[in-house]
Amino acid sequence: MLKQTSSSRLAQVMKAVRREFPLLIILSCLLNLLLLVSTIYMLQVYDRVLSTGSLDTLVWLTVIALFATATYGVLEQSRRMVLGRVAAWVDCELNAPVLKRAMEARLEGENLQGGIRDVGNLKSFYGSDAAQAFLDMPWSVIFLVFMWALHPAIGIVGTLGAILLFGLAITNDVLTRERQKRSAADARTSQDNAIKFVDSGETIGPLGMARQVFENWRLRHSEIAAEQRSLQDKTTVILSLSRSVRVALQVAILGVGAYYVLAGSITAGAMIAGSITMGRALAPIERATAAWRAFVAARGAHANLKQLFERVDRDGSERVALPRPKARLSFEDIFYVPPGSTEPLLQGIRFALEPGENCAVVGPSGSGKSTLCRLAVGAWKPAKGHVRLDGADVFDWHPEDLGPYIGYLPQQVEFLPGTVAQNIARFREIDSRALIRAAQMAGVHELVLALPAGYETDIALHSRRISQGHRQRLGLARALYGDPALLVLDEPNANMDEAGDKALIEALAALKQLKVTVLIVTHRASVLKSADKIAALDHGTLAGFGPRDQLIRPVPSLMPAKLPLQAVPSQWQASPPASEQKRSAAE
Ligand SMILES: Nc1ncnc2c1ncn2[C@@H]1O[C@H](COP(=O)(O)OP(=O)(O)O)[C@@H](O)[C@H]1O
Ligand SMILES: [Mg+2]
Repeated sequence: MLKQTSSSRLAQVMKAVRREFPLLIILSCLLNLLLLVSTIYMLQVYDRVLSTGSLDTLVWLTVIALFATATYGVLEQSRRMVLGRVAAWVDCELNAPVLKRAMEARLEGENLQGGIRDVGNLKSFYGSDAAQAFLDMPWSVIFLVFMWALHPAIGIVGTLGAILLFGLAITNDVLTRERQKRSAADARTSQDNAIKFVDSGETIGPLGMARQVFENWRLRHSEIAAEQRSLQDKTTVILSLSRSVRVALQVAILGVGAYYVLAGSITAGAMIAGSITMGRALAPIERATAAWRAFVAARGAHANLKQLFERVDRDGSERVALPRPKARLSFEDIFYVPPGSTEPLLQGIRFALEPGENCAVVGPSGSGKSTLCRLAVGAWKPAKGHVRLDGADVFDWHPEDLGPYIGYLPQQVEFLPGTVAQNIARFREIDSRALIRAAQMAGVHELVLALPAGYETDIALHSRRISQGHRQRLGLARALYGDPALLVLDEPNANMDEAGDKALIEALAALKQLKVTVLIVTHRASVLKSADKIAALDHGTLAGFGPRDQLIRPVPSLMPAKLPLQAVPSQWQASPPASEQKRSAAE
């Protein structure tokens, strides 16, 4: 079955949104036509009722006008509902795929603009008054035509007024748009930083950085605030100007109207109708300045999202139900070059692990051990070569299919908002037996029970109570949850105490029974003991690979001079057999 690719998701959503456009346009046209009714009513009352004194006509006109007003209310409510539905729909259909794609893009080091904020911008555009003003703007023409019909002079004043106000609106936009954008971005950064500072109290406080950090932030923040004030001043000038122009136009239209009433070419009713209609014609134009800006923002958001959805989607491949892999893990001439760099972090890595083998990865800090782990679980894509699990490239496999068979404990353990149970169970449906089994295997069950709400404890709320060592054990439980065939552990015991270490070693023994392939980065002798193989990395190359005993008692052919022996703890660097010592002495 071919899964719905999320690349067509944006196109689908936009197509569905566009399907509502004809309805919205028709509704807006009717609404603006109905707005004319009250003007016409007034015109009729002035010119027909007051001059003839006919009460019947007045009653009928009033009934019709009230009916039109009621219809207006209903239609306006319908338009709001359609727009609201569109906004909600855009939001709920796009949010999750956008988050997923933004995460993937970040993982691949792509610097894409698109993100959840763009969905917010699109949503708020459709749900805003700006969208309504935007829909109303073209129908200003209806009012202008009506003014022309009243008298060409009235039409001319109205048209010139519309052009003038539109010009002012555009001037305002052109003068401030770029600065406006930059200032909004700065303000966002400033807010994000403020949140980071509050969260980093443990570092900022004791290190005595508070005064300097907050002073720097305050200075930057006041610069931003000053810029925003200056922008606002500029905008206010133009806004006041538009308002004065509008008042002047109101005066002009009555003046012109009165002149033609005196000249006898129009009635007093037409004069007042002209004045009211002009207000109606200009209102959407005035509102359209804000509307235009919102429209431009929405268009930008759409462009960002399009870019995000143009990425090759990892969902696009055909989904097949995977049998549990036996987990033969092979690295085939791997080169990894981080995005935006030309220096490979890993080069020419070639080795393979048979199902059920446990391989310890050793090497000095920065030699590429974590990079190797990320490639092994398909989080990063090698620039050249393949990491294969049972012959299939781990990067090409759909994470939803492969994920359950992989256990990964990153060097930096992160938990997601939710309960302990949810985090261990990877937010899948919780199987409590599997949950407890994983926790027990990781030696964390008792620790979890000691938390305020046990497995139901909110992990974010209590993150401060959970020490680094316990975090690693919880992360180990998450890695063990379910039925992993391949386990990749990046320095799992870096922060563990003796008890944690013991739990880890027991878990590794159990995994060996279960024939789980394990790749484990470690420097601890205790853990190296359970390894079948050792892979030694140095400056991104494989300096040595082989059975533990052979690598630790170096065999010259397997141990190039480059092998960083210091990476292997000294107690495992057994001296070469006596015969070899003699031979090397003889050479
Ligand atoms: N995303 C990245 N971009 C550029 N360099 C990176 C990136 N991630 C890691 N590195 C660099 O790659 C090298 C290997 O990193 P890593 O695999 O974390 O080493 P180890 O786990 O052995 O300490 C380090 O020098 C590190 O600075
Ligand atoms: Mg590392």
